Amino acid sequence: MALQNINPTSTIAWKKLEDHFNEIHKINIKDLAKEENRKEKFSLELNDLFVDFSKNRITDKTISLLVDLAKEVGLKEAIESQFLGEKINVTEGRAVMHTALRSNSDEPVLVEGKNIKPQIQSALRKIRSFSNKVISGKWKGYTGKSITDIVNIGIGGSDLGPDMIVESLKFYKNQLNTHFVSNIDGDHVSEIIKNLNPETTLFVIVSKTFTTQETISNAETIKNWFLKSATIFDIPKHFVAVSTNLVAIDNFGINKSNVFPMWDWVGGRFSLWSAVGLSISLSVGFNNYRALLDGAEEMDLHFRNEEFDQNIPVILALLSIWYNNFYGAETEAVLPYSQYLKKIPDYLQQAIMESNGKGVDRNGNKVNYQTGTIVWGSTGTNMQHAFMQLVHQGTKLIPADFIGYKESLYGLTDHHKKLMANYYGQMDALAFGKSKEEVHLELKVSGNEDKIATLLPFKVFEGNRPSNAILFDKLTPNSLGKLVALYEHKIYTQGVLWNIYSYDQFGVELGKELAKKLLNQ
Ligand code: F6P
Repeated sequence: MALQNINPTSTIAWKKLEDHFNEIHKINIKDLAKEENRKEKFSLELNDLFVDFSKNRITDKTISLLVDLAKEVGLKEAIESQFLGEKINVTEGRAVMHTALRSNSDEPVLVEGKNIKPQIQSALRKIRSFSNKVISGKWKGYTGKSITDIVNIGIGGSDLGPDMIVESLKFYKNQLNTHFVSNIDGDHVSEIIKNLNPETTLFVIVSKTFTTQETISNAETIKNWFLKSATIFDIPKHFVAVSTNLVAIDNFGINKSNVFPMWDWVGGRFSLWSAVGLSISLSVGFNNYRALLDGAEEMDLHFRNEEFDQNIPVILALLSIWYNNFYGAETEAVLPYSQYLKKIPDYLQQAIMESNGKGVDRNGNKVNYQTGTIVWGSTGTNMQHAFMQLVHQGTKLIPADFIGYKESLYGLTDHHKKLMANYYGQMDALAFGKSKEEVHLELKVSGNEDKIATLLPFKVFEGNRPSNAILFDKLTPNSLGKLVALYEHKIYTQGVLWNIYSYDQFGVELGKELAKKLLNQ
């Protein structure tokens, strides 16, 4: 089984989708909503997750043709190839095994003929025992004090994932304060260390390659700062590393027993499920970290086993392709109605745009169709007072995912009712808008009849703007794991359909090379 190299635009389903688009592209969500049972038909559930995709410019035929497209390009086989550990990251010659990291099953997963499950289990045991020691205060710094602060030093996938999860799970955190240093900008690291006590701070250097300029520079700066008050013999009590590059770690002076493994078969932006997530386990405890992995595994099983028309990541990927490739939408908004999720748009920007921002297909040819969408967003309701004007009344079509929770964590139900009223209100406004007639009546009733002639066109909302409601019962480590895995599988599904390689990232190299050259000059 290998990935097929089919230009999606050459398929029968694509041609049918083009015809279908020509027939229905003027369709209006308001009219579609009149259909009986539409919400039941266009919604899916997975335990504590409910996804309503009824507010889209779709009919039964749209879904059925999109599903045909997925079948015609071999999505089922592509999913199996990924789960089975085949080297689907062809350009880097690697398997892609973030799903194995969260698997609870005893079924072996072979990479190059070797079962990787025992290594994963042993890394998890090491994460658990280390986290327990630090959190309980048994792990002591060089003056005998317990650790109070954790600093994760990394960038890209070695920063965004752990940072986003630690922020999102703040409610579940323990007494440790976790900080993230990523930028090469020296002011970033200076701001972080200025309030830290070297006696009680633990540094987690995370770099798959251990060659990344930003991470190594920040780690060196921090080591020098640390050595102003401590000695090199104290380093093992304060520095641990997560990497595949054992030689470079050794050269940096990190004790072998303080090294957590990383593997070639885990991509940086999919690595928070490995020891790259050590700062997560330190911040919320291993049990919560395991619950995060378990939630992701629930989504993995759903993605691997469900029929495409019942498969949440597949459906969301297909809808995104519908707008990107047929309606010509260029961007997608991710709008979490939870302040805890404020970092998810940044995280998804790397996951989605580093994966599917590719212009060459799996045959090595320039593609003649659009690929990766631009993703952006912010939290509701803040963004309603910022960019939503453009989404409601601007000239661009911007499909949006609204992520929400039925329950809040602190139980301020009055706030939560208002938050969720906004959550649903925004989606209704986008879908159904406000007609001329409604504006007319509104102005009349409010005693502003004299203003109708001048104000009416500005107050009309065209509507017909698509959205998906992604609704969980509650923000928990488990539901967060599910959410992140949902987007991971959406990314892969889209990459397979666009006939591109989602798991390399050569596009980030040139800038790095030029920066190095300029630095030498
Ligand atoms: O610059 C892109 C990138 O290679 C990402 O894919 C990766 O997550 C990041 O750099 C950090 O790499 P490393 O973990 O090797 O330091």
